[in-house]
Order: sequence, then structure tokens, then C-alpha cells
Amino acid sequence: MTRLASGGHLVSSGGHLVSSGDPPGPGRPCSVPVTAAYNHAMLLGRAHERQEIGLALARARSGTSATLALAGEPGIGKTALLDHAAGQAAGMRLLQARGIESEAQIPFASLLELIRPALPMLGKIPAPQAAAMESALALRPGPGHERFAVGAATLSLLAAYAEDAPVAVMIDDAHWLDESSAQALLFAFRRLVADPIAVLIAVREGEPSLLDGADLPTLRLGGLTSDEAILLVRGLAPEAASWLHAATAGNPLALLELAPDADNLALAPEGAPVLVPATIAGAFLRRAGTLSDSTRQALVLAATSDSSDLTTLGRAAAHLGVDLSALASAEAAGLVTLDPGRVEFRHPLARSAIYADAPAGQRRAAHRALAAALPDRDVDRRARSEEHNV
Ligand SMILES: Nc1ncnc2c1ncn2[C@@H]1O[C@H](COP(=O)(O)OP(=O)(O)OP(=O)(O)O)[C@@H](O)[C@H]1O
Ligand SMILES: [Mg+2]
Repeated sequence: MTRLASGGHLVSSGGHLVSSGDPPGPGRPCSVPVTAAYNHAMLLGRAHERQEIGLALARARSGTSATLALAGEPGIGKTALLDHAAGQAAGMRLLQARGIESEAQIPFASLLELIRPALPMLGKIPAPQAAAMESALALRPGPGHERFAVGAATLSLLAAYAEDAPVAVMIDDAHWLDESSAQALLFAFRRLVADPIAVLIAVREGEPSLLDGADLPTLRLGGLTSDEAILLVRGLAPEAASWLHAATAGNPLALLELAPDADNLALAPEGAPVLVPATIAGAFLRRAGTLSDSTRQALVLAATSDSSDLTTLGRAAAHLGVDLSALASAEAAGLVTLDPGRVEFRHPLARSAIYADAPAGQRRAAHRALAAALPDRDVDRRARSEEHNV
């Protein structure tokens, strides 16, 4: 976890923070009642996603296949939704696998994990396909594998497994599937038609995966609503929960990880430190890692500023000799959006991660340049910015 001093725009000027020990009460309204019934194993919100998952499972039960991908940033709740789906799949046969980063180079590792319960059905599929599958999964010696035959065998085996009961296939972390498994599975999923099979695939958005160009129906997961965030970080005062909601854009992992630090948030002034869970920071920093030094400098400056106004940023950039036009590649990398006169981070946690990852000297220089670039009427902000130099 990294610490960040920034983010003034995340707290309204009249806003204040209270400690996590403060109970909700008069003057601290909570629009969603906190009930004793909620526990952290429960899924909050996601009405649309639950409905779509329910429809996919219902289609499989009625004999028509359905495929649904769930895409989103780290910690947004993809696995939580797959767990929910597994709980809804009563009466169905489950086939589950997840991509594992360290096994992404092992051919057919994930296919074997997924299809293992169906292997007793190998005798029911055409012999050449069964042989190709057994050889690919190293269940018997063979001359290697033929891509088409393994894909066809995967399709046949899924269909055979679904003969006795509808099947729910669930693949988590699909961006880490080994390439051979990904190809065989995509081959099969694209050809499911009148099969009682539902396929749910979770993938991190922005990471290369079998879904690229596959044109499968995809749900993009956004953050939890403010009311859901209040329920998730139950025990926090509503003001602190709202602050966290804004700082995390409702990312449940970030909400849960930051909640214990609520006391610090309560004591911090506007522009308070924000902590970024490492998995989330890593995802954004990988995108920044491909950018040139000048783009990264411009990004650090934008992340340091509590204003998205390009005129102010431009003045600060001139102090530093940084060219703001370099931000165009950061936009192409999905880190910021550029509108006339404004630059906005696509996600508050991306901004936090970029800032926290920058060398201290670069952050200090950015703070000084921004303080010098502020119009005179913003002396308060200038003072604050200098005070927060790190
Ligand atoms: N809708 C929700 N209601 C309550 N808790 C949730 C919800 N969504 C996610 N969570 C919780 O937030 C945390 C992160 O969720 P999850 O692991 O599902 O994220 P993810 O999208 O799978 O992340 P990754 O890409 O790292 O695998 C978990 O503790 C999970 O239980
Ligand atoms: Mg997950």
C-alpha cells in the first residue's frame, strides 16, 4: 500500500471527516439503514448483473447456451459475482477454472483444471478428438496436439457432460489463462448453440485476454453506489464512507482496504493522503509503464494538481519544462481523458497510484510549480499545496 498526499477535489469544501469510532446519529444521516443482517459474504447491489447472470443460467437450464463475460478493474467484484453465480447454479453441474499468472506459460493448464470432472466422458466423443485431448492434457503420450482437434474435443466434451444435467462453466481471471487453453475454450464457446450450457468469464479490463476481438456479450462492472459503499464499510461514519467512495470510485476492494485507516482520514485536512491497494495500483502503473518519460512527468503533474484546469497545469508545466501535449499518449493508454481545457483521470485510484509511484523529488517539484502557477486569488490553495510538499 502506498501513501499519497493529494486529492483535494475529492472532499467538498464544506466537507469534514469524522473518526471511524463515531456512530451514525443525528446530523450524520445514512440513507441506507445499517442492518444486522448484512455480513461481508453478502453481495451488495449489482442488480443488473445478477439479473443477467440469472438469465444466462435460466437459458442453460432450458437448453439454450448463454455466454457472459464480466469485465472490470482489479477489486471491482468479478470473483464475488462468480461466487454469487455458483450459488445460483443449483441443480447444474459446475465446471470451474481460474487463470493463474505463474502458470500462464504451461500449455493447457487451465483447460485441464476446467474439464477434469468431464474426463470420464471421453469415451463418448469421437475417438480422434479424445486422443487429441488426452495427448494435449498429457494424459497419454502423443505426437503433440492439433489445435482444431483439441478445440473440437473441448466442445464435444462439454456437450457430453451436459447430457445428464445443465452445465455452468465459470472461468475467473481469464486474462491469465495459458494461450492454448484460451484458444481451445474460445473455439468451443463460440460454437455452443442448443446446449444446456452457461459460460461465465471474468476478466480484468485492459489486460489482453481470449475475449479480445471475440465479440462475446460483456458486462462492464462499475463501482458500488455511495449507499452500497456505506453498507460495505459498515461502522464508518457516513461522511468518512462518502469520502472513501469518492476516492475509490466505489471499488469494493479499495473501500475495504482503506476503511481501517478512517481515523487518519478523519484527522487529515482537505487533500488528505489516499492509500492504494497494491493490486489496483499495479494495474494502473502497468499502463503508465509503457509511456515515455515526458508523458509520465506530465501525468505526475496532473496527479499532483487538485484542479483539472489545463491552463493552470500549463503554467506549472512551463515552470518545469514539461510538455502537456504528451498527455495524449496517457489518454490512449486509458489513464486520463482530455477535453477542451481539462484533463481528468479515468479513475481516482489511477491518479493516486501515479502520484504515489513518482519519485519524491518529482512530486516536490510538481507541488512547487503548481503553487507558483496558481492565480493570486487562490492563495489558500497555494499555501496548502506548499504545506503538503513531500
Ligand atoms: N458487490 C459486492 N458486495 C460486497 N462485497 C463485495 C462486492 N463486490 C466485491 N466485494 C468484495 O470486494 C473484494 C474484492 O472483490 P473481488 O475479489 O470479487 O474483485 P475482483 O474484481 O475479482 O478483483 P481481481 O481482478 O483482483 O480478481 C472482496 O473482498 C469481495 O468480497
Ligand atoms: Mg477476482
